[in-house]
Amino acid sequence: MSGLDITDLSKHYGSFHAVKSISLGVLPGEFVVMVGPSGCGKSTLLRMIAGLETVDGGMIRVGDMDVTHAEPSKRGVAMVFQNYALYPHMTVDGNMGFGLRMAGASREVIAAAVSRAAGILRIADHLPKLPKGLSGGQKQRVAIGRAITRAPKIFLFDEPLSNLDAELRTRMRVELGRLHQDLGATMIYVTHDQVEAMTMADRIVVLRDGEIEQMGPPLDLYNRPANRFVAGFLGAPRMNIVAARIVAAEDRVVTVEAACLGRIPLELDVTEGRALLPGEPVTLGLRPEAFRGGDLPLRLIVQLVESLGRETLVHGHPIGVGTALGDPEGNGGDGAEDALVIQLPDQQRPRMGDAFEARTDRRALYLFDADGRTRRFARVG
Ligand SMILES: Nc1ncnc2c1ncn2[C@@H]1O[C@H](COP(=O)(O)OP(=O)(O)OP(=O)(O)O)[C@@H](O)[C@H]1O
Ligand SMILES: [Mg+2]
Repeated sequence: MSGLDITDLSKHYGSFHAVKSISLGVLPGEFVVMVGPSGCGKSTLLRMIAGLETVDGGMIRVGDMDVTHAEPSKRGVAMVFQNYALYPHMTVDGNMGFGLRMAGASREVIAAAVSRAAGILRIADHLPKLPKGLSGGQKQRVAIGRAITRAPKIFLFDEPLSNLDAELRTRMRVELGRLHQDLGATMIYVTHDQVEAMTMADRIVVLRDGEIEQMGPPLDLYNRPANRFVAGFLGAPRMNIVAARIVAAEDRVVTVEAACLGRIPLELDVTEGRALLPGEPVTLGLRPEAFRGGDLPLRLIVQLVESLGRETLVHGHPIGVGTALGDPEGNGGDGAEDALVIQLPDQQRPRMGDAFEARTDRRALYLFDADGRTRRFARVG
């Protein structure tokens, strides 16, 4: 088992800087999930690790071996793509054994490896078929099987489940988790799926514009996002962001005012960050699930109700509480939204157009300064 070390890795396409000096260490056996908006460089990074893309600067090591400029087949890395990339004219058997055949393995070794992988993935019955005779989920298993037979040191997955329907996706997610356990292999997995990221990852890496915004265990990132971008990126529905302003600041205690929440005194964590001064525009974050009661009432005009059975999502415009902010809809701030989403743990059905009051707790608030950085605080008063 090997880990992966990436140091100052960089990639330009012409004048466009797609990957900006990224450094990342992946432990042997670790499952790392990479997430980030479309175009942030996830696939480029995987392709550089796989050797399918040249590197402008930096170093890639697999275990102790510098593979920065090595041939793809010499890296001990196997990649699984979103579109499966199977050879259409080859049977499942032929597709799965392809890598080993290219590497010059004997017929017996190939047969044993294919049979083992087919067993793990439960596709043994399909070995004589051509890819066109398989369902999407079966094709993806073949693509994963082709990676397994090569016994790579590191598996790279680029959105492997995104072409599958919801149910199959869930099943494959569980199976991939099991595969990771059984093989004990190092895996790097790119996805847009929140559930995959939260449930499969030992660590999540959040990328944005070719740089790492934050990395850490899923719940650390969810509970303690470093900034507003990470806070908004992890979690579905997204965290609500509300425009606010610092209206008073004395020592560590600042009073934050938001049109829909009124004035809230918060005691900042002394150990971090610069002082927040009166007048500074800030934002407050509230996760949709944070409305389960508490000291802060929030009223909104219901615009849309989504009943999901186990829970209900209420979308609406917040109603101001008559503060000096003079912006009754609570919008206008950088990155702030004018509609909020509240997740209720039951089957309430508030009527569209009605005012709806929910209560949240100030301990559930997130505070982001004008630069979007998270500012931690203790509860006051
Ligand atoms: N061969 C290429 N030539 C020029 N630009 C490219 C090339 N490949 C990627 N890019 C650009 O580099 C950036 C990163 O692309 P990449 O495919 O890595 O994004 P991604 O994070 O995988 O996005 P998605 O989530 O949509 O798959 C994008 O802006 C893309 O347009
Ligand atoms: Mg991609």
